[in-house]
Amino acid sequence: MYSTSNDSSRSAKRRKLRLMCTDLTCDIEKNSDENIPNKYQLSDIKDSCQIEYNGQFIQFNVQQLKTIKKIGEGNFGIVTLTQLEHRPDVIFACKKMTLENHGNNSYSSESDLKAMRTVGNDRHPHIVHFYAALIDLIEGQLIICMEVLDTSLDKFYPILHSCFKPTNIVLDLFIRRLAKHIVLALDYLKSKNLIHRDIKPQNILVGRQSIFKLCDFGICGTLKDSLSSTHRGSLRYLPPERLGNVCTYGTRSDMWALGMTLFEISQGHLPLESESIMSFMYQIKNGWEPDVPLTLSQSTRDLLAILLRHDVNQRPRYYSNILSMESMINIQDNPSQDEIVLINQIIDLVLQKTPE
Ligand SMILES: Nc1ncnc2c1ncn2[C@@H]1O[C@H](COP(=O)(O)OP(=O)(O)O)[C@@H](O)[C@H]1O
Ligand SMILES: [Mg+2]
Repeated sequence: MYSTSNDSSRSAKRRKLRLMCTDLTCDIEKNSDENIPNKYQLSDIKDSCQIEYNGQFIQFNVQQLKTIKKIGEGNFGIVTLTQLEHRPDVIFACKKMTLENHGNNSYSSESDLKAMRTVGNDRHPHIVHFYAALIDLIEGQLIICMEVLDTSLDKFYPILHSCFKPTNIVLDLFIRRLAKHIVLALDYLKSKNLIHRDIKPQNILVGRQSIFKLCDFGICGTLKDSLSSTHRGSLRYLPPERLGNVCTYGTRSDMWALGMTLFEISQGHLPLESESIMSFMYQIKNGWEPDVPLTLSQSTRDLLAILLRHDVNQRPRYYSNILSMESMINIQDNPSQDEIVLINQIIDLVLQKTPE
């Protein structure tokens, strides 16, 4: 065998990516003081791995990942439904992020990986489960393998409103269950010293059992690095205290973003959505008061109002304060058959509308 110029440029590319992987892992280890477990070594991120899947140990490599179809796309990566070539019963949602760019992309892949490893392994019921991270040295990608959910809320709620016109009672229960699941997930992140920083419908997944899970930890941060003047998240979910100021982004900013998300879903669109982004931000910063839909129950309206309090110090201090509100304590743990049927009908329609 002799080497061609193609071979040598490929091996140069591999060397470069290996160096970038070293950077990635060094940073994980540097953060050991921030409650991030230090149990991962550079050698963890390879092009092959072993995972536990439904009680079985399974080994595979990057070449054995077979894409079935694209199921989502965000600012930082594409997500595909993927199966193992030699085990078609093993299915993942694979998020692929390029490693070649040292700008926002590498920040995002690094943050996603760190947070997924910290909170995605614990089988928390409301955080998407993380199976493995692999490096594809040929494509220059980090691949995060996760459990597959059926859809995300950004695709779900327009159909909820346009095709189902839910009664007030059904919508109210939907909002409260969603709020409870995401508050439980955020409370768990907080227990690991993390804040999400990008709560919005695109980053909340929906499952057929009426279960909601948080995903996308691409700009997730530790409480320690929350004082940052740059923000990479979506401007329409930013709290007033972050607009134009260098002010800490803490758990109460995630609460605001959750309030905006719940408001958007309950009325079928974001508040002030027809306003330009500048005018939107101006109004939010200058005392916008949420006009919470009257169709919601009083206890749900109280929940939205408290999450969307303009003054950050007036929002709840702890997630436990939210979980003890009337709208939260009255929810049965197990969703009713009616809730599940509705969710399944909507998911079926979403999947029909999503091109293969
Ligand atoms: N585990 C998953 N199961 C099903 N769909 C998913 C999953 N993870 C992500 N998606 C879909 O892919 C989209 C983009 O994923 P996300 O992690 O938010 O990427 P980005 O960081 O680029 O925003 C999500 O909005 C959602 O629609
Ligand atoms: Mg996203």
